[in-house]
Amino acid sequence: MKDIEKILATFDPATGRMDGAPLTQRFLHDLRRCFHDAAAFEQAAAAGNPLIYTVAGVEPGAGDGDLHYGVGMIMPGRIGDEYYMTKGHLHSWREAAEVYCGLAGEGVMLLEDEDGGNSRMVPLGAGKVVYVPGRTAHRTMNTGTVPLTYIGIYPAKAGHDYSTIARKNFTSIVVERNGAPAMVRRGTKA
Ligand code: F6R
Ligand code: MN
Repeated sequence: MKDIEKILATFDPATGRMDGAPLTQRFLHDLRRCFHDAAAFEQAAAAGNPLIYTVAGVEPGAGDGDLHYGVGMIMPGRIGDEYYMTKGHLHSWREAAEVYCGLAGEGVMLLEDEDGGNSRMVPLGAGKVVYVPGRTAHRTMNTGTVPLTYIGIYPAKAGHDYSTIARKNFTSIVVERNGAPAMVRRGTKA
């Protein structure tokens, strides 16, 4: 059996910080070309480089049957009308699915078939579990006023393909409309 350090981890559901786990931090300048409103992005990026999200990652093993997981935290905020969000990715091993459990705060996930033909917005927050099937690009947004935290659990072999999203971005965006999140096709006015 694995050592207790690999079996038990302790995290703070309010901040997403986990004892002893490496923390990836993404700042606004890391998210260039993710947001649809380029002028709003440049204005915000000129004013500063705030922290947008963190992921505390745990990789207990790398075998065929192993799992990895990460506790994510996204700050509240928007660039123009678009909520603060993650870069988003496909898994390098396309068949790899993932389970997201919301811990605190309010948010949504944008799920898209790899060919971009089908987009879906699903809520993610305390009491919500989202199953992300294989071959599905996924991006997470904080639509609330406090940090959104969640845990994502995925096969150790999944890997992360960020380059496909960096090249094509998501077909849809999630924006604030009348105080609520709405999914619209990129490049259209809703
Ligand atoms: C892992 C996973 C999450 C994300 C996290 C940050 O497969 O989906 O742990 O890594 O939500 O998002 P990205 O990785 O898109 O920066
Ligand atoms: Mn993933």
